Amino acid sequence: MAKTIFITGATSGFGAAIAERFAAGGYRLIITGRRQERLGALAAALTAKFGVEVITSCFDVRDKAAVETAIAALPQIPVDILVNNAGLAAGLSTIDAGDTDDWDLMIDTNMKGLLYVTRTLVPNMVARKNGHIINIGSTAAKTVYRNGNVYCATKFAVDALSQSMRIDLLQHRIKVTAIHPGMAETEFSLVRFKGDVSRAAGVYEGLKPLHAEDIADTVWYCANLPAHVCINDLTMTCLTQANGVYAVKDADTL
Ligand SMILES: NC(=O)c1ccc[n+]([C@@H]2O[C@H](COP(=O)([O-])OP(=O)(O)OC[C@H]3O[C@@H](n4cnc5c(N)ncnc54)[C@H](OP(=O)(O)O)[C@@H]3O)[C@@H](O)[C@H]2O)c1
Repeated sequence: MAKTIFITGATSGFGAAIAERFAAGGYRLIITGRRQERLGALAAALTAKFGVEVITSCFDVRDKAAVETAIAALPQIPVDILVNNAGLAAGLSTIDAGDTDDWDLMIDTNMKGLLYVTRTLVPNMVARKNGHIINIGSTAAKTVYRNGNVYCATKFAVDALSQSMRIDLLQHRIKVTAIHPGMAETEFSLVRFKGDVSRAAGVYEGLKPLHAEDIADTVWYCANLPAHVCINDLTMTCLTQANGVYAVKDADTL
């Protein structure tokens, strides 16, 4: 029987690429996000291309009741892999000038949303003594960068939670992997800069960033290792980025 992967934030970027990678590998998918039309279109495309079953579930990870209701309404299929990917950065400013609504949005999505989804799905993994949680962190989880304050804090939290989950769930034979990507060209910067296309494009000018498919390939690798092997923590960047602070662009003198 096909294994099942549950992906949050599958309407765009990493989540959509992970969905495609696992569909190509014959998995059954449960794809989630807030934009139903995108979920429907992706499900139809992946089913047509790969002949796999794709279930869509539309909810906002910040809404605890909606998370629980949406997951309870799914067919009773055991989830083998949970990818906690839904997340965002909102704004980029010093702490004294930060927009507190942006802070709430990032904390509620990146930390609390990840917790709500995990809390709802993982008891079934515990009962079955089988499962793999893959949390998408960031290089921002390892090194803070200028004006990144609250976004970095939420990703540090993802790192801490991944470590904690691993300790808590080891006794149940559940794997926990944290993947920490650097700059990748998705809708991420467009969301951070609230639709400012040129500011978003500027982030990636002068370098070749990661592609969503690079992250999807890495998730695939981590998820398909022998049963006794677990990648705990993995940081990946494009060739010209060292960490969340330091990257070399074409214009820089080497
Ligand atoms: N791109 C990068 O440079 C980069 C680097 C390191 C880490 N990351 C992390 O990687 C993850 C994916 O980012 P991405 O680059 O793929 O960005 P993206 O293209 O903007 O995708 C973000 C996804 O998250 C979903 N999402 C956001 N808020 C949500 C909410 N409240 N409820 C449910 N779903 C929500 C979005 O779906 P809906 O809008 O349809 O809800 C979308 O599918 C994020 O956690 C991000 O922090 C990104």
